[in-house]
Amino acid sequence: MFPTHRPRRLRRTEALRRMVSETTVRPEQLILPMFVKEGAGEPVPVASMPGVLQHSRDSLRKAAVDAVRAGVGGIALFGVPVTKDAIGSGGTDPNGVLNVALRDLRHEVGDAAVLVSDLCLDEFTDHGHCGVLDAQGNVDNDATLTRYAEMAVAQAEAGAHMVGPSGMMDGQVGVVREALDTAGHTDIGILAYSVKFASAFYGPFRDAVESSLTGDRKTYQQDPANVREALRELQLDLDEGADIVMVKPALSYLDVIRAVSEQSDVPVAAYQVSGEYAMIEAAAANGWLDRRRTILETLTSIRRAGADMILTYWAAEAADWL
Ligand code: PBG
Repeated sequence: MFPTHRPRRLRRTEALRRMVSETTVRPEQLILPMFVKEGAGEPVPVASMPGVLQHSRDSLRKAAVDAVRAGVGGIALFGVPVTKDAIGSGGTDPNGVLNVALRDLRHEVGDAAVLVSDLCLDEFTDHGHCGVLDAQGNVDNDATLTRYAEMAVAQAEAGAHMVGPSGMMDGQVGVVREALDTAGHTDIGILAYSVKFASAFYGPFRDAVESSLTGDRKTYQQDPANVREALRELQLDLDEGADIVMVKPALSYLDVIRAVSEQSDVPVAAYQVSGEYAMIEAAAANGWLDRRRTILETLTSIRRAGADMILTYWAAEAADWL
């Protein structure tokens, strides 16, 4: 008449639930993406990402120290330059906004958190693409690799612990590895954006970096429909020397995170991107979702899917809660 098996027994008290919990999120597994805007006197709020700022050099330093105090594992830094050009010169300039801010942060934070620099040209190009263009206006893969090689060395010299190639050019991890090694930066790691989809969820990020892009990135970012292709990208990046591989976005791609984590022999990161952030913030602001519970549920889900670490705009706040 009655059930002989009662799974509810293990859900009865908070202590029981905690004891049998299979997935944990720890502060050091969270990486905070931050934006620094060249020439900004005051931090500028990003309208589509409530709570996220384009930092000034000063406010970045302070916010980074606060985040590290809260316990975050790392900071992923993006630059917003004043001037842009066709080849993204600001990205390789040692005095470009990103390199200057990396130097500031390394000075401020030391080795207390992992500093990851965004290694991509899109913030620095006047056409907004992640690489340089050929005469026909197409993104030129191999000419872009040369720029990435130079940019990686500049970022290593500015103080990045790891560089994060995010432009989805073929061969980028191998070229960056070789450039770093040749320049003597054998200890600087590569957090490879191995599986990066051409996603609508990047919309608010493009506001945050004042992207000049018209059109899309579908000739280099992946089709959201494909998982076999994602595993091929993973394998190539592993072969080329990635130290950590990443899947991006996170929540719509939990199956991809799972598949990648099963095949990867290096740690796997997932990027909970700007659109994922904006959706929950907007719903919470309307009183439609319990903000904190929703955020923690998403982070737990991404970990459960197989991510070892998560890039999230809530990193500092969540680290505080945890
Ligand atoms: C490109 C880059 C993008 C993001 C980080 N680096 C996306 C893009 O514009 O294609 C998106 C991150 C986010 O949405 O939070 N270098």
